[in-house]
Amino acid sequence: MRAWILRRYGSVDDLELRDVPMPTFRDEHELLVRVRHSSVNPADRHNLRPPVFLRGGQGFLRPKEGRIGLDLAGRVEGVGTAVRGIQVGDEVFGVGRGAFGEFAVADETQVATPPARLSSEQAAAVPIAATTALQALRDHANVGPGQRVLVNGAAGGVGTFAVQIARALGAEVSAVCSTRNVALVQSLGAIRVFDYTREDFTRSGERYDVILDMQVNHSLRAFRRALKPGGLLLVVGAGQGSITRILLGLIGRTIASKFVGPRTKFFIAKVRRDDLVVLAEMLQDGRVTPVIDHRYPLDHVPDALRELIGGHARGKIVVTV
Ligand SMILES: NC(=O)c1ccc[n+]([C@@H]2O[C@H](COP(=O)([O-])OP(=O)(O)OC[C@H]3O[C@@H](n4cnc5c(N)ncnc54)[C@H](OP(=O)(O)O)[C@@H]3O)[C@@H](O)[C@H]2O)c1
Repeated sequence: MRAWILRRYGSVDDLELRDVPMPTFRDEHELLVRVRHSSVNPADRHNLRPPVFLRGGQGFLRPKEGRIGLDLAGRVEGVGTAVRGIQVGDEVFGVGRGAFGEFAVADETQVATPPARLSSEQAAAVPIAATTALQALRDHANVGPGQRVLVNGAAGGVGTFAVQIARALGAEVSAVCSTRNVALVQSLGAIRVFDYTREDFTRSGERYDVILDMQVNHSLRAFRRALKPGGLLLVVGAGQGSITRILLGLIGRTIASKFVGPRTKFFIAKVRRDDLVVLAEMLQDGRVTPVIDHRYPLDHVPDALRELIGGHARGKIVVTV
């Protein structure tokens, strides 16, 4: 089978498309998926050069297996002896190990049945980005009807899902993106869209219950100005930059916010079957629709990653395997 392999920790240039053995199960709860589509995420980019303290089982000095790619949609080709409720021949979407390859391995708790309304490439756009948006809004910000939510970074993978999911939860949504994406973000349900090249939302006089921040490009003071008293700054990401820089910046901000406000939280999403099922319902009834920017064939995974690293992907970038 063909798969992209990371030869050494470094950059996109250290990836190589190779013929490799079929992946094997780590335990009996895993399944083998023939990948039809994958999509790229900032996590894939961080996995090219994870900080030493996060290398854990992947090899400290150089990658042990080097298979990369997380989001997937495809057909189950094999199941571990303890897997329940999923059979060979089923279609699944979720995350796995080595999704930038013809076959990947996934844990049974991290995949679900894709909604019938979606194509395979749409299903592959969902797992990490939509799970992040759902867990942020529903679990960490407790967003509900009537709340005012602002999504900073609304045109990207997480942002395009966040605008739609916040609306589905009953919130009134405002959003921030660049000029070329204003119409797209409006079409997703944002009632007010700030074009950050022309207007600073923190100086608009508008105030929100929740700001979902994917960029960390304003001071805590500015965010506080844009939040209602007691409002929450939920930091999901920090745009581009190395994972170490992002984590240190986020930890620093979270600590500083204890002294100067506003109420600030940071979290790491985890893809779980239960949440994929919730998302599948929203996707099936049309409350949420994936936005796909560009599509790349398997041979061009490095180009897909380069586009993501450029920082201006519109919705999701999909890989056709
Ligand atoms: N905490 C977690 O568990 C978790 C999970 C997933 C992702 N993340 C993080 O969340 C962040 C977003 O992820 P993603 O998948 O959405 O990334 P992405 O798809 O690469 O985001 C790209 C988007 O960022 C927007 N953007 C760039 N500069 C901006 C600015 N100054 N103001 C507002 N928007 C701007 C771009 O819009 P324009 O082209 O219009 O500028 C583009 O649409 C990343 O930092 C990622 O690492 C965290």
